[in-house]
Amino acid sequence: MTSNSSALSFFHRNEFLIRRLHSLSGLVPVGAYMCVHLITNASLLAGASVFQNNVFTIHSIPFLPLVEWAFIFGPILFHAAVGVWIAQTGKSNVQQYRYTHNRRYSWQRMTGYIAIIFIFTHVFHLHGWFHMDWWLKSVAEPLGMAQFRPYNAASSLADAMNDFGGIVWPIFYLVGVLACTFHLANGIWTAGITWGLWLTPKSQNRASVFCAIFGVFIGAAGIASLVAVKTTDSKAAKVIEDEMYKVRVEGHMVKPDDHKRTDGHQHKEERKPEPVAAP
Ligand code: HEM
Repeated sequence: MTSNSSALSFFHRNEFLIRRLHSLSGLVPVGAYMCVHLITNASLLAGASVFQNNVFTIHSIPFLPLVEWAFIFGPILFHAAVGVWIAQTGKSNVQQYRYTHNRRYSWQRMTGYIAIIFIFTHVFHLHGWFHMDWWLKSVAEPLGMAQFRPYNAASSLADAMNDFGGIVWPIFYLVGVLACTFHLANGIWTAGITWGLWLTPKSQNRASVFCAIFGVFIGAAGIASLVAVKTTDSKAAKVIEDEMYKVRVEGHMVKPDDHKRTDGHQHKEERKPEPVAAP
């Protein structure tokens, strides 16, 4: 037996369990993370200092890279890989659960593919995927990626979003956020079928209304985040952030860490070649 066919037979033998884990991972931790993430980002509407406070709290979590891989990246990769497998094998629950909303089922697949491309690119763009120095300096940053500085949260986010004329990234983010929102809202509905929560037509209709309201709420948080980023004055935000950092370091609330600050990195302008002096 080839390794490919044994992997396939492993999937077929454990299909029930894998599908349940796929459904669960989409809700918790991935879906729950997305809600908290978009609401945290929307807090930028209340100002750079509020957003910075929230990012300080997130970055005070001990062993953050380990937490990110165990509870965010790992589950996202698992959910995406199994999702592609389900979509490719085409074995939907249509017959089994009399799931007649075919259009919603195709949108679920399509938005799943968009979400994979969006999340992969978005994490590379802002976070960089890995924190190793050689990776950041030799690969991510020269490509214009890994742009977010947690101790200059709003200003670095606004600068990152304004690259390429300030329109390319916001459009990419808008499409990505809306795709992720649909995928999660409709995914909650399909998960309710998987777990036997709504099986009668009446309860399924009620669940549809609930999921639609939820989707509008989360989508609004995503759009609010983008509006907040686009209306942030990055220079003014940096002054506030640097002051907050100074106060926290002096009060021993934050350990000094230049890697998490804009000033600890080479500025984009500094990377450009020096202009030749006029004779
Ligand atoms: C309004 C749109 C969004 C904005 C402005 C935004 C902003 C950010 C920022 C600033 C980071 C870096 C955090 C850090 O390194 O501390 C980040 C990371 C991340 N984002 Fe988003 N995000 C958006 C939408 C989304 C959506 C829809 C998802 C879907 C699940 C998502 C998933 C992630 C993941 C998985 C990470 C890496 C986790 C981590 O940093 O620990 N983002 N995002």
